[in-house]
Amino acid sequence: MSKPNTMNLLIVEDDDNFREVAVAWMRRMGHQVEEAANAQEALILFENKYFQVAIFDMNMPGVSGLELLQRLKSDGVETQILILTGQATVENAVEAMKMGACDYLTKPFPMADLEHRCLLAHDRWSLQKENRQLKTVIARNQPEKRMIGESKPMRDILQLIERVGPTDKSVLIQGESGTGKELVAQAIHRASEVRSEKPLVTVNCAALPEQLVESELFGHEKGSFTGATAAKSGLFEVADGGTLFIDEIGEMPLSLQPKLLRVLEDGSFRRVGSHLERRVNVRIVVATNRDLSEEVAEGKFREDLYYRINVMSLVIPPLRERGQDIDLLLDHFLAPDWSVQDDARQVMRQFSWPGNVRQLINALERATILAEGRLITIEDLPLEVVDSSDSQDIQNRSESVRRLDSMERAHIIEVLKEEQGNKARAARILGIHRRKLYRLLERFEIDETDYRF
Ligand SMILES: Nc1ncnc2c1ncn2[C@@H]1O[C@H](COP(=O)(O)OP(=O)(O)OP(=O)(O)O)[C@@H](O)[C@H]1O
Ligand SMILES: [Mg+2]
Repeated sequence: MSKPNTMNLLIVEDDDNFREVAVAWMRRMGHQVEEAANAQEALILFENKYFQVAIFDMNMPGVSGLELLQRLKSDGVETQILILTGQATVENAVEAMKMGACDYLTKPFPMADLEHRCLLAHDRWSLQKENRQLKTVIARNQPEKRMIGESKPMRDILQLIERVGPTDKSVLIQGESGTGKELVAQAIHRASEVRSEKPLVTVNCAALPEQLVESELFGHEKGSFTGATAAKSGLFEVADGGTLFIDEIGEMPLSLQPKLLRVLEDGSFRRVGSHLERRVNVRIVVATNRDLSEEVAEGKFREDLYYRINVMSLVIPPLRERGQDIDLLLDHFLAPDWSVQDDARQVMRQFSWPGNVRQLINALERATILAEGRLITIEDLPLEVVDSSDSQDIQNRSESVRRLDSMERAHIIEVLKEEQGNKARAARILGIHRRKLYRLLERFEIDETDYRF
């Protein structure tokens, strides 16, 4: 690229005399310069070369400098464009700036001034470029998501992660569904200086058939069971040096728990069907949305394993107990040009969010589909959320909720028709409780005449 303080410049000017002087001056100052006598020539140059800075004369026969500017800006060029005006056309300079010109000069002016203004434009170009690069670097380096939340419980959790992350302690993460347990596990892994360079491997006990959990975790030898056509290393081996995140640990088969306990204690284990003892160095993070102490009391979870994984326990409070985070999450997950109406925010703050952050994200996604004009109002929110509001004012806004209601009403009628009016089956298909269906029938004033012929 160019040396510091030199730039790559295009001068578009129909006045041959002026253009030649300007080109000569800029070249003498060490800049790389191309020239064009009109807009058409300039466009051809733009198609073949990249310019950091360009100077357009405002008044040229044919396509004016202003039109050229407009055209290039709508094509999204990054080039910084300066406009030159005569005394008589100064007012147009304002318009040029509005269209995206970075500066303008009124003729006549000393060449040194022109160069100085071009250098300022070049600085601006560099800054914008750097900004674009930083953005892509940031986007690429943070595939893991940031934890949002500034409520007291959330700050405590973030602090705990920073404290416990660098140690090799096992961590038990507890919290309702959708509270961010997996996110916390990722943050713990990242907070470990030695392990963060190594893999974080996740296994979900609930997602695996019981017979497969053992071979997933510990691997197997060829022929050790039907279907084991080749030897395979287990996730403990894959995670060696790093972290193994065992999700839904409460679902871990009781028969497998002694084997897990052993690998936690000294890192040793055997693959399924092998007599060979192996050793790994793996840090364990586990999560559950059950109360493990209760499971222990009921004999569904081994007490010794419970104490071994519960060295450090982290409880994520449900979203309804950290209401102030809701606003932060809304602002985080909404695109910058979207907004949420005050009463919609209020309703969301009051809702109990049984599905926690995941449910909030889903509600928001749905709302952005339903919303008009990038503004989320209560009519875009799921009915269950709005229904739960204790504000009379909001309840009374049936008018605005109508639009959504009519869609839902039509859908319910359609399902009822298909099921010949059988409400139990219709409710099942709609994925709602039968009582809820009756409430919706009330609310939407649906009666038999609507779905029976
Ligand atoms: N504090 C937070 N900040 C930003 N995003 C969050 C936060 N908490 C949760 N999320 C997002 O919510 C969703 C659910 O989080 P996650 O999968 O970690 O929950 P979970 O507790 O593991 O749920 P489950 O018990 O259902 O497995 C994810 O998309 C996650 O990125
Ligand atoms: Mg999870």
